Amino acid sequence: MTFEHRNLLGIADLSPADIVHLLDAADRIADEPSCARGALAGRQQVNAFFENSTRTLLSFEMAGRRAGAEISSLAIPSSSVAKGESLLDTALTIEALGADFLVLRYPETGAPRRLAERLKVSILNAGDGVGEHPTQALIDALTLRRHFGRLEGLSIAICGDIRHSRVAHSNRLLLEKVGARVRLSGPPSLLPDDAGSAEPIEEALDGVDAVMMLRVQHERLDDALELSGSEYHGRYGLTAERLQRAASHAVVLHPGPMNRGVEIAGDVADGPRSLILAQVALGVPVRMACLVALGGARRGA
Ligand code: CP
Repeated sequence: MTFEHRNLLGIADLSPADIVHLLDAADRIADEPSCARGALAGRQQVNAFFENSTRTLLSFEMAGRRAGAEISSLAIPSSSVAKGESLLDTALTIEALGADFLVLRYPETGAPRRLAERLKVSILNAGDGVGEHPTQALIDALTLRRHFGRLEGLSIAICGDIRHSRVAHSNRLLLEKVGARVRLSGPPSLLPDDAGSAEPIEEALDGVDAVMMLRVQHERLDDALELSGSEYHGRYGLTAERLQRAASHAVVLHPGPMNRGVEIAGDVADGPRSLILAQVALGVPVRMACLVALGGARRGA
């Protein structure tokens, strides 16, 4: 099967077969990193992150480099964005410089999609506002699939600030497309409008195969959350005691960055059921698979 997309803007655009294609490719690369070596030789990848990042930026840089692309990461504070240049003009400039890939993180929801209507460069959405974070969802799915051997039929609780989490939005879309069951739990003001069946965390954890915890996205809250970190932890945090409600084989995920002692207890994050660092490690193969599948702006040219 071929992957017939020029951009990776969101899980919403992918069919279940597309998702399996990317997961299979990333799985192969994770087992044998050399299989994608040189696949992007001669390609130019530009990373433009208008919001902070550790995992996504570093792993996109490593992914492109390991596949043979030349990598440039735009330092936004010292770029001409600080002189008032718009996102569109910045992206047109990157394209005119010969980029094949633009990896974009941007605070405004939908910005990568709007750019894709104007540009030929392959755009990879590295997180847009409260929209999507498709490569993180692919990482999370591959982490679960490598652990359980399947995704279909798994029961997964997503807990925390779901309303403002692009990771949660992409994960819900992906997991439901591949036949997993998703439960949502969090403070009422941090749940999306369609979370009709949201449950208290203890009930949401009952018997699940996996728990995905989410950070409170304070940078996207209109009003401050009226809970201190320790109050939040007491009411909504994942503790070892609460984790007992999940299946005995259940695993814990978190896309990072974590706030220990707020949404997750440190001993759970570091505990034997935690796959959090396994998620991080799969960031490079998943992003290599995505870059190689897209092929860059010159594909078919
Ligand atoms: N999960 C994630 O997007 O982490 P960073 O913000 O560190 O890239």
